[in-house]
Amino acid sequence: MKTLRALLLFAMTALPALSLAQSFTPKSGTEWLSEEAREMQDDEFANPGYFTVDRGLELFNATGTNGKSCANCHGADGETLDIARLTRFPVFDPLTQKPMTLQGRIHACSQQHLGNAPMKYDSKQAIALETFVRNLARGEIIDVETDGPLAPFVQKGKAYFEARRGQMDMACSDCHVNYVGSRLRAQVLSQGQLNGYPTYRLANQRVNAIHQRFSQCENRLRATFQKAGADDYVNLELYLMSRGNGLPIETPAVRF
Ligand code: HEC
Ligand code: HEC
Repeated sequence: MKTLRALLLFAMTALPALSLAQSFTPKSGTEWLSEEAREMQDDEFANPGYFTVDRGLELFNATGTNGKSCANCHGADGETLDIARLTRFPVFDPLTQKPMTLQGRIHACSQQHLGNAPMKYDSKQAIALETFVRNLARGEIIDVETDGPLAPFVQKGKAYFEARRGQMDMACSDCHVNYVGSRLRAQVLSQGQLNGYPTYRLANQRVNAIHQRFSQCENRLRATFQKAGADDYVNLELYLMSRGNGLPIETPAVRF
């Protein structure tokens, strides 16, 4: 890790012209996967993330405190959910005047429409529902808005992504912009895209939500990380999701 940082600092001083403004083409993390992992991802029967999709479907049909279920409004398999709208999250929420993530929408529906007590952000249940819902849009193209009222939040997310932090004094962008394609121990650095999330990780053998992945990366920088659902992470999700505009949704992807 120290070597990488030294390398980075060297590269940054040696190559001041290394431009971040070069034209950017989004690439899914799947591009850097081993063939075995890619095959696992593409096979619904081999991809362990589908257990979580199934669990999400069960919860979708389960009755809440007021006797209703998600399916009452959105169809038994979510078939009346508007798939195009699912590709646009996070969206601007006029009520809070802030961005709302897909999981945030699910929490809001659970409380307002089922009368349920609040679930924790990134609780197992919330992740399962999010995985199920996002899987409905698998293959659809991410289309997050970046102008209008969302613009200042996109900028905040970008600033967070580019700010150095932690004992390593590194920014997310150091690894996920400047060193894409380089090896870090056994892993190859990707662009840090979110199109496969929630994602099954072989490393911890469970489906990992977006904010969990953020804190895993911050943890390795020995930086203090945010709580799941915190404004900083919502803005970061907004920025990173919009940076993947044009990529297909691949939930649940498989990663190391
Ligand atoms: C009483 C009806 C009702 C119930 C029950 C309900 N929702 Fe919703 N849901 C809505 C409405 C209305 C919207 C649109 C909100 C908006 O656009 O402001 C919505 C929007 C959504 C969206 C965003 C997609 C879209 O079309 O805007 C998702 C995802 C969603 N709900 C998931 C769920 C889940 C998961 C549950 C169960 C925990 C649930 N909903 C329960 C009424 C309901
Ligand atoms: C020291 C290098 C390093 C830094 C700095 C770093 N990460 Fe990562 N990150 C990794 C590695 C290694 C992986 C796993 C391989 C990959 O997909 O890049 C990863 C994976 C990810 C992924 C998953 C991508 C996918 O397709 O599954 C996301 C999202 C991500 N990082 C976001 C962030 C964010 C946000 C920050 C800043 C808070 C950050 N990372 C900082 C090394 C880093």
